[in-house]
Amino acid sequence: MREDAHELVYGGDYNPDQWPRETWDEDIRLMRQARVNRVTIGAFSWSSIEPRAGEYDLEWLDAIMDALDAAGIGVVLATPTASPPPWFTLAHPEALPVRPDGVRLVHGSRDTYNPAAPAYREAALRVADMLAKRYGKHPALRMWHIHNEYGTVSYGPVTDEAFRDWLRARYGSLQALNAAWWTAFWSQGYGAWEEILAPQATQYLPNPAQVLDFKRFSADVLRDCLREQVAAVRAVNPAVPVTTNLMLPTWHHVDEWDLAAEIDTVSIDHYPSARDVEGEVHTAFGADLARSFNAGRAWTLMEQATSTVYDYAAGRIFAKEPGLLERQTLQYIARGATGSLFFQWRNGRGGAELFHSPMVPHVGPDSRVFREIVDLGGTLARLGELAEEPADGGPVNRNRVAFVWDSAAWWSAETRAMPSNDLSFLDAVRAAHRALWWEGVGADAVRLDDDLARYDVVLVPSKLAVSDAEAAALTRFVEAGGTAVTWYFAGSTDEHLRVRPGSFSGAFADLLGIRVEELYPLGPDESVVLDDGTVGDCWSQMVQLRGAEALARFTGGVLDGVPAVTRHRVGAGTAYHVGTRLAPAALRRFLADVVGAAGVQRDHPQAGGGLEVVRRHAGDRTYLVVVNHDVVPRELELTGRDVLGDRDVDGPTTVAPGGHLVVRERTR
Ligand code: GLA
Repeated sequence: MREDAHELVYGGDYNPDQWPRETWDEDIRLMRQARVNRVTIGAFSWSSIEPRAGEYDLEWLDAIMDALDAAGIGVVLATPTASPPPWFTLAHPEALPVRPDGVRLVHGSRDTYNPAAPAYREAALRVADMLAKRYGKHPALRMWHIHNEYGTVSYGPVTDEAFRDWLRARYGSLQALNAAWWTAFWSQGYGAWEEILAPQATQYLPNPAQVLDFKRFSADVLRDCLREQVAAVRAVNPAVPVTTNLMLPTWHHVDEWDLAAEIDTVSIDHYPSARDVEGEVHTAFGADLARSFNAGRAWTLMEQATSTVYDYAAGRIFAKEPGLLERQTLQYIARGATGSLFFQWRNGRGGAELFHSPMVPHVGPDSRVFREIVDLGGTLARLGELAEEPADGGPVNRNRVAFVWDSAAWWSAETRAMPSNDLSFLDAVRAAHRALWWEGVGADAVRLDDDLARYDVVLVPSKLAVSDAEAAALTRFVEAGGTAVTWYFAGSTDEHLRVRPGSFSGAFADLLGIRVEELYPLGPDESVVLDDGTVGDCWSQMVQLRGAEALARFTGGVLDGVPAVTRHRVGAGTAYHVGTRLAPAALRRFLADVVGAAGVQRDHPQAGGGLEVVRRHAGDRTYLVVVNHDVVPRELELTGRDVLGDRDVDGPTTVAPGGHLVVRERTR
């Protein structure tokens, strides 16, 4: 493996096996023109690599690895296991995925395998092992990319067996399982392990604890798939870092924290499709998650789109306006990305994603998109100094606010036993992060059992299932001087979705100093008005104070005068609770007050309101990355060197709408 100087990575997913050799020559010429220094190869190339079981065709891969190395372009080599070839399916029909309704899927797309099937696991490991042995010491290799976007879930007989093994290990006895799942309800008591099934389609509502455990199990199976392949590539050359690309945030069949623990560095694929500033808010969110999963270290943006993105919900593709690509890329870099890779270098003329934008579009290099790609390559080359690790070994961004990210919380809210279908963990987290973004306050994602002492403020959006240990951790954080905010329904149940008796504030009842006696979820057209004039929807609840004070109360109806937002001083810290879904402006005001009272400093005092300013640490230096998402020019005080403009800035500096600036700071 060659050593690279400090440089930001730039390039994309490259599929030479779809093209003749003449195109390769043009590819490498254009890559050099765009200053591409990294390409990812092989993510879906299993049928090109192993066209028949056990027969490998590697001549093309040898040739392109050598050609890229000669051109000074590093390779991220993927194991192709996300798409078994048709021969595999025919030989191992039992390894095909089964839907909840029992239908067994066939090949013809991608990800057609059951991750729990031994035949799939053996075939995947074999091809990964073969690639590791052949290329693990190739000079072009910079990183292993295991699989692509783990996330396939399967039911059926093969899964049932694996699920039972997992349950045996988790519970030890049927008695413990029956208690955790509360199986006396609806006559579900299990008398033998063989009676237990993965929760396929059934007559009426399924058991929520069984559903939640199945999601945990499915995530663990995917983690095990990853673990096996990581071991195979590390065995050949442990010096090559290993990653797998997480699809954020909606492909949520994995526990990202658990996957991150298996690899050397986290990478994500990110496709914000919103066409207004919400796209930039989403960009910041994905970047903050990625960095947090990577323990605050710089992370890899494995895929983003240069322009058109399929928005399957909307049923069309959306193009990025000129300039947006560079703006969003700088946002990712500000928040810790090592550079930017794209899906994909050149788009295929056919196949299911033929209209997804690449770096070299169908119309060729004489195009707006390719010109922006060349410009962006120049920009990233000039920002190479940001790629250095912080000299003190600390995180690349140093935020004082954290929000809880927890896959099980998301899965819990999705079970069909909830008091309102509008409860959404993702929406709750996004709303909090969005409010902070508009306030110019940076934030990291955490788990409750992380070291919370690194933060001043920890936000706990509607995380329903909370264990005793998690509740104790948040309590210790507050007692020691921290500020916590929990939202309605957080902590109402234990980790098995069993309601905690006494108060729906459950696990956090003492910490919050409130008793939530009754739940009053709101209908889609209903809202509540608080006595400070703010409006909430989705949720309301009957709350009694047990030591906390009311900051705002519900007005009107049966909840007239009932506390809606509360504050409880505990030890040296403060615990807030929010009992409704505050309208965005009200949430922003509330969180601004909370972080202000906790003494949190922004990365720049004038950040916010669409002027994004993020401090990134590199070497012994700090940089402010400034992006103006506002529609008017914005002015802020800056002192240092404008790295892209190659000039000093000192004092009030204007940033045009859509403009950006990277300033190496000088401390006065
Ligand atoms: C994902 C995948 C790619 C491609 C892109 C574009 O994130 O990893 O293979 O499908 O999305 O849709």
